[in-house]
This record gives sequence, structure tokens and C-alpha cells, in this order.
Amino acid sequence: EYLTVGGLTFGLNLSSPSYLEELNVTKSDFPTDFAFGVGTSAGQVEGAAREFGRGPSTWDHRVDTLPDIQIMKDLGVDSYRFSISWSRILPNGSLSGGINQQGVDHYNSLIDELIKNGIKPFVTILHFDLPQALEEKYGGYLNRSFVNDFKDYSELCFKLFGDRVKNWFTINEPSIPAVYGYEVGIAPPGKCSLQDDICVFGSSEKCFVPVGPCKFGGNSSTDPYIAAHNQILAHATAAKLYKEKYQAQQNGEIGIVLVSRYYVPFSESQEDKAAAERLFEFNLGWFMDPFVYGDYPKSMKELVKERLPTFSPEEKILIKGSLDFVGINYYKSTYARHKAPAKELRYTNDVSAEEIGIKNGIFLGLDPRGHWPEGFQKLMEHIKEKYQNPKIYITENGLSTERNDALGLADQLKDPERIAYIVRHLYRLNKAIKNGVNVKGYFCWALFDDFEWGMGFLDRFGLYHIDLIHNYNRMPKLSATWFKAFLQSNVNRA
Ligand code: NOJ
Repeated sequence: EYLTVGGLTFGLNLSSPSYLEELNVTKSDFPTDFAFGVGTSAGQVEGAAREFGRGPSTWDHRVDTLPDIQIMKDLGVDSYRFSISWSRILPNGSLSGGINQQGVDHYNSLIDELIKNGIKPFVTILHFDLPQALEEKYGGYLNRSFVNDFKDYSELCFKLFGDRVKNWFTINEPSIPAVYGYEVGIAPPGKCSLQDDICVFGSSEKCFVPVGPCKFGGNSSTDPYIAAHNQILAHATAAKLYKEKYQAQQNGEIGIVLVSRYYVPFSESQEDKAAAERLFEFNLGWFMDPFVYGDYPKSMKELVKERLPTFSPEEKILIKGSLDFVGINYYKSTYARHKAPAKELRYTNDVSAEEIGIKNGIFLGLDPRGHWPEGFQKLMEHIKEKYQNPKIYITENGLSTERNDALGLADQLKDPERIAYIVRHLYRLNKAIKNGVNVKGYFCWALFDDFEWGMGFLDRFGLYHIDLIHNYNRMPKLSATWFKAFLQSNVNRA
């Protein structure tokens, strides 16, 4: 017996009993106003990096695809998450450098076209691609001026697009530029003062992105915390402005996008349980605690001590309650094991916990990468308990597969593992909702294969395949056909 939806058969064998219940999840199991969408970001799909008046960003790599609204319409999603390229609107990052009208026109027509086709825009204001000019002018995220420039740029977005955009995410995954930009050194600006030889992407057997000892300077024991601190203040400053000046009139909402794994204690020991708690706090809590409670988590204050910036009493008021909703990106789970504190003081050591994928020879989850749908449900329930049941959008969830140009196109389009990943996560998400977690939408990452940052074009996340060799043609993978059937039918199994 194979999975069939609306008379179509998808390569998933139902004889594995663990699948049976999970594959029964249908669109009608979700609330009627639940948003189903797909996502991309400017730096990963837009292309035209030097054209139409755009200034450079710190991540300048591209694939020449433009979001294809007809494809989304055909897929049947009601929402689309994309990001605005800051340097396409403000080529040198600041208002003083002038507005690029061609950039404004581009997003205006994208937004208009989406709405005409019944697709709601969910807009990320900053998705990693900080204008290069701000990096050069004052050191980007490390400088308080970033907070002010981000505020100006956000306000411009509200003014220009807020009549039609009702869902704003200020910043995507602020922990990533903080840790990967200033400790690991593989994201712009590539700083790392304390780095040993490690493999950043891939495994020790097959390492795609190795990082040698640091070459680029900076101060890895403080900079990640400063970069995060300024992003927290930037979010809160833009959100305050939106709420005071635009929200009532534009009738929209504003939040941020955070990434978290689910952390399972490696053993029943108190030490490992505390290690799991610390990993939650150093990742999700680093941002959620300030936004919900007005300050950093206790464990971070105790372990990072004076290297952790502090919020003034006014800033505590500013940041607390600054989220109308939170976007959560979830991909995988890991075990958490206590690790003795290391000599070198830096983010990765401060947490005194290591993430492990395997125990007694058995992987946590479905595969060595820690894909574990149950962890998704548990993370949702953790957020509900710990952060006063906030409104949540799942802003990203999906599966990457390794690029393999040696395979014929027909085989590259066969991705039953992506269908299994998505349906099993939707099943768990649905359970979380039934248990009272306030989730309002799900955005599959990604609409297309795109530029996967440090991995370049080696990883494919798309529901649609992109021909990266010839012409950037899009072709639906089996997962796109399945998602379309899921969105159309209320019965997931024939
Ligand atoms: C998180 C990022 O927001 C997105 O840009 C990236 O492609 C995905 N995760 C997958 O790694």
C-alpha cells in the first residue's frame, strides 16, 4: 500500500506501521484560519545583485530566480514568506544615502501581484543580508548605530508597504549572524578570534565547509553577545515604532523569527537535564526571555557574566512584550550532554553542553541528521509552557537533500523523503495545536532550491527543483505535487 492523495500515488510505503497514523493528517485537521505557505529570502533567490540600483549586501551570492507567483498559485498556498533586500531599498544602508525607487517598485509589484492572486505576504525585514556599506561604515551589528539604521529602514518598509503587508518579521534568526559571524567565522563578517579546526557543515567523514584556525580577528568571547544584543534592541525599537505609529491604522502585527532545536537530555542525570535546559536558554531563551520577561535567562547571566551586555531599565521596558507573535524555524533535535567548562570563553563553550546525535548506536530521530518530528511537538509545548502561550507561526520547516547533478532530472524530482518529513511534522504540529499551542500558520522551507548560505548550491531545500546548470527552470518535485494535493483535499489517504 502506498500513500495516495486525490488519486495520485506518492512513493511512500505504508507498510511501515509507524507511518500509518502520521500520514492520516489532513488539511481539515487544522483550524480554518490556519495559514499554509512557503518561504524564501531575498539573499537566497532574488538575483540581480548588481542591477536595478541595488547596493551590495554582506552576503552577495545569488541565483537568478524571481519568485514565481503563478507557481505558488498553482501550488495552492494562501501565504508567502519572503524578505526585503535592505540594500535594494537603501543601497548604502542609511536613509541619508537615498532610496532606490526601482527597488521599491519591485516589492510593490510583488506585493500587489501576490494579493491579486489571493496570497498573503508575510515579510521579513532583515534576513541575514545586511548592507555591506553598514559593515564598512561602523562594523554592522556590533555598533549601536545599527539599531537606528534598522529602525529607519523598518519605518520606510511600514510606510511603503504596510497598507498591504499585515504580517511583519523584523529579523530572521538573529543568533546566526551573531555566532557564525563572530565566533565560528563562516558568515559575514567572518570574524573568529578563538577558532580551532572544526567541520562546520557536514561530518568528519565528509566535510563540506571546514574552518581552520581563525584568520580574521575580532573578539569571539564578547562579539556574538554584542551582535545579538543590538539585534534585540533593533527589533524592539522597530516594533515600538510600528505599534505606536502604524499598527492601529494599518491593522497588522509584528514579530521576529527564531530558530530552535529540541534538546533531549542524554541521560537521566541532573547534569544532562540541566545541560538541555541551558541549550534551550542559550538559543531560544537568548531572545525569547528578553522579549517575554525583559531580560536574559538566568543561566546566561551566571555563565557569561560581565561579557553579556545588560539592558538598562528603559530598555527592559522597551523589549518586554515587543512580540505580537513569534516565528519559529524548526528542523531537528539533538541530545544534550553536560560538558565541563572550557578554558576559552566564548559562546559555544559558555553553554557547557554538547549536542549529540547518537546514543548507544541509535540516532535520535529518523536519520543521522536528527530529524525528529516528535521533537517539533515537544518544542511547541515547551514554548507554550515557558513563554505564556504566545502566538506562533512556523516560519520554516523542511528537508534539504544533497545536490547530485549525476542523477537524471526524473530522479532528482523524486523526493518521497521530503514528503515523509513534511507530513510527519505536520502531524506533530497538529497534535501540539490540539494540546493548546497557539500556532497560526506553517511555511514550508523552501519554495525553490536556493542559495543555502555557507553550503552554497550544494543543498537543495525546494519543493520545486531549479536547473542550476542551464536555465534556472523550475520543475515541481514529487513533494510539490503532494503538497498541492494536501492543500486541495481534505482527505490525505485514498
Ligand atoms: C534558516 C534560514 O533562515 C534560511 O535562510 C536557511 O535557508 C534555512 N534555515 C535552511 O538552512
